[in-house]
Amino acid sequence: MAAKPIFLRSNTIPAILMSLKDALHWRYAPKRMTGATVAPQHIEAILRAAQYAPSSMGLQPFSLILVQDTAVKALIKPIAYNQPQIAEASHLLLFCAYTQLTQQHIDTYLQQIISVRGVSAESLAAFRGSMMRFAQTSSSEQIAHWAANQAYIALGFALAEAALLGVDVTPMEGFDKAALDKFFQLPSQQLCSVALLAIGHRDEANDFLAKEKKVRKPLAQLVKRI
Ligand SMILES: Cc1cc2nc3c(=O)[nH]c(=O)nc-3n(C[C@H](O)[C@H](O)[C@H](O)COP(=O)(O)O)c2cc1C
Repeated sequence: MAAKPIFLRSNTIPAILMSLKDALHWRYAPKRMTGATVAPQHIEAILRAAQYAPSSMGLQPFSLILVQDTAVKALIKPIAYNQPQIAEASHLLLFCAYTQLTQQHIDTYLQQIISVRGVSAESLAAFRGSMMRFAQTSSSEQIAHWAANQAYIALGFALAEAALLGVDVTPMEGFDKAALDKFFQLPSQQLCSVALLAIGHRDEANDFLAKEKKVRKPLAQLVKRI
């Protein structure tokens, strides 16, 4: 007999781990959270999922800012149009995209490949050439757009890991990007904000969405099979 899925809260020890399918049905994007703290090991697992997401050429052209400080969350809340999850989340994870791809980024990455895989710089010369060509022939808008796409993949991986752990997360684009960029001084770091992930626990009593069914296009509408 197939094991019945158990939807576990993150503060319990999982007896049966959820399948990805079960986890994706369990998860939703809470509008209200309880304010309870998410276990540090779950936060680390969510960060690792973002770390291990695939990215174009493996360059990982994004960085993450993790906020747990209550006062900082309170300052971000008005920038995110006073959405309650911002202050009610245990942690906020901001996904930031590179606005430039520099020779230094490329050479730092190649150095890491050399050190991790024990290969020579010469063996990577063609790869370096293609990355440099991409960097030199792309406008800053194209780089920022490309980098944001990579950040979104990492966001998706973080979201899926949270669901598997029974941790609630709300992906959020509803904030004033220019104001958040300024708040974290991102332009001076050649970064821009992409999306926030509010990480916490759903407030079932106060969230009108907590008991609602999922609304998704049927596969027949979503997928054209050829
Ligand atoms: C990129 C992105 C941005 C989103 N921004 C917000 C947001 O600012 N506030 C919010 O409450 N939900 C936000 N959502 C959540 C969506 O509204 C939600 O995922 C969608 O309605 C599907 O519902 P479900 O995730 O609960 O299944 C966002 C989702 C994504 C993927």
